[in-house]
Amino acid sequence: MTANLDWKSLGFDYTKTDFNVRYTYSDGKWSEMEVTADEYVPMHMSASCLHYGCELFEGLKAFRGVDGKIRLFRPEENAKRFISSARRLCLPEPTVEMFVKACEECVKRNARFVPPYESGASLYLRPVMFGTSVGLGVRPSKDALIVVYCSPVGPYFKSGIKPIRVAADRSQDRSAQHGTGDVKVGGNYASSLLCGEMAHKNGFANVLFLDSVERRYIEECGAANFFAIKDGEYITPKSPSILPSITNKSLRQIAQDLGLKVVERPIDIEELSTFEECGACGTAAVISPIGFVHDMQTGKDYVFDMENVGEWSMKLYNTLRDIQYGRCEDKHGWTLEVKVEE
Ligand code: PLP
Ligand code: COI
Repeated sequence: MTANLDWKSLGFDYTKTDFNVRYTYSDGKWSEMEVTADEYVPMHMSASCLHYGCELFEGLKAFRGVDGKIRLFRPEENAKRFISSARRLCLPEPTVEMFVKACEECVKRNARFVPPYESGASLYLRPVMFGTSVGLGVRPSKDALIVVYCSPVGPYFKSGIKPIRVAADRSQDRSAQHGTGDVKVGGNYASSLLCGEMAHKNGFANVLFLDSVERRYIEECGAANFFAIKDGEYITPKSPSILPSITNKSLRQIAQDLGLKVVERPIDIEELSTFEECGACGTAAVISPIGFVHDMQTGKDYVFDMENVGEWSMKLYNTLRDIQYGRCEDKHGWTLEVKVEE
């Protein structure tokens, strides 16, 4: 029985589900997987995640397909990125198997919250790890807690697949060149909040972050990667300080399958005026076409199309969605079916 929710009006917000799945690390080893209905985590006030940012997370989705089957999209990729984030923060590393097993269990236990196919919504999984050692000195946490919970979600941007307005802002950096921009740690998001708020107040959906050295090259679009289309090429930034997006990785493959040439290279903001289409991509954002960019420092505007979605962005979006909802062959083996008794 599916939960009684107004699926069509879901935004990107937390909705309570039935269970979450946990592992704890102490005395040098991981616990067995535990399932609980408790939404709270036990935490000492001096736990390292609360003071020194020893926290990391992931985001992935489960979809109810056209055939009624539930599929997780590329959970092993999230597992690998979760492990690389843990390594960067000197936290204990789980295995890919532990991560994927917890995601599958979370979906199984909350299957009634996987939105119906017709709703266009999905179940967002949020695996998170906290360093829990108690102390005062700045040092790696020896203890950790992993929680995998989920929430049914609708579109991240209220406008759905409509073009968005974004502001390029050099006044604050999301991450330093060799900082933590390439891993998914909470600190990156904390440092992006203030300019995100300023952008929202000025009517922009998101901030286009530039590199922190020359403040010239496009890095990320809020919590999503950036891509552009020009002369039969799918172009996306190459930089040590952007998060390696799993959606972008998938779109690069899809772009190639559709006959586009894939190019990863630094992208100067001035190049925006030469692009035929551009957009933000990520698990939450899916593909959000960028219709307009305002440069906060130079005052320059880059106008795309605020009414229509570009031809290639639409093709890429449709192909990705077709794979996720089981409407076409998953020829790269990206989805993992989660078998549930409903
Ligand atoms: N960049 C940032 C900063 C993000 O937070 C996200 C979201 O996860 C992405 C890019 C997109 O990554 P993915 O496609 O793996 O969700
Ligand atoms: C995702 O796309 O999964 C994200 O993690 C974005 C999130 C920070 C809202």
